[in-house]
Amino acid sequence: MSKTQYYAAATLDGYIAEADDTLGWLLDYDGSYEGEDAEPIKGSYERFYDDVGALVSGSTTYEWVLDHMARRGGEWPYNGKPTWVLSSRDLALPEGEGVDVRIVNAPVEDLHGEMLATAGDRNLWVLGGGNIASQFADAGLLDELLVTVVPVILGSGKPLFDRRLPGEPMQLTGARPFDSGMVELRYEMRREPAPG
Ligand SMILES: NC(=O)c1ccc[n+]([C@@H]2O[C@H](COP(=O)([O-])OP(=O)(O)OC[C@H]3O[C@@H](n4cnc5c(N)ncnc54)[C@H](OP(=O)(O)O)[C@@H]3O)[C@@H](O)[C@H]2O)c1
Repeated sequence: MSKTQYYAAATLDGYIAEADDTLGWLLDYDGSYEGEDAEPIKGSYERFYDDVGALVSGSTTYEWVLDHMARRGGEWPYNGKPTWVLSSRDLALPEGEGVDVRIVNAPVEDLHGEMLATAGDRNLWVLGGGNIASQFADAGLLDELLVTVVPVILGSGKPLFDRRLPGEPMQLTGARPFDSGMVELRYEMRREPAPG
């Protein structure tokens, strides 16, 4: 069944970007782990991405992706997958065949049904950042959190979520240590109400 998943990489102290939106801590990370349970990091993103049918991003994250593309001379990385970008502004669109970017200004509750329908039998990836992740969580629309923890401490920056999530604790459903020293934690977000 199709799921709404927030999939992101975070530092050990819970940040997804520096305060100035740079990601050197992630892009330049070069660690290792040689434990017997280490899984190859190579291919793990591709396996996740194969099951993605549509994406939704905040405008700050989108602008980071566009800037990254421009600096590296690369292509839009989500070709062939419909991508909603939440913004109150008139943002530039990437060019290229297969690009499907939809800039929208609306509460996430009003958009979620259409996003899921478009994802079909695959999943909706909430790309981030913490600002939109909190909107999805507040509305009870996140099924899963997949966070790849990078053993780096920033001390400050942009948080995984913008604000506290009240209610039941999340349910851990998986933990995978990678040969890079990163660890993927998987949590179920939406839980049945406690009996009584
Ligand atoms: N480490 C990772 O895996 C990871 C993953 C994702 C993002 N990031 C990083 O996180 C940082 C961005 O996170 P963030 O939380 O600051 O920002 P964000 O969630 O990417 O974007 C927030 C912005 O989106 C617009 N927006 C949000 N909800 C909206 C709605 N319902 N309707 C219309 N517009 C809406 C607003 O800006 P406007 O209306 O002004 O456009 C808002 O300020 C970036 O540096 C990004 O690279 C890292």
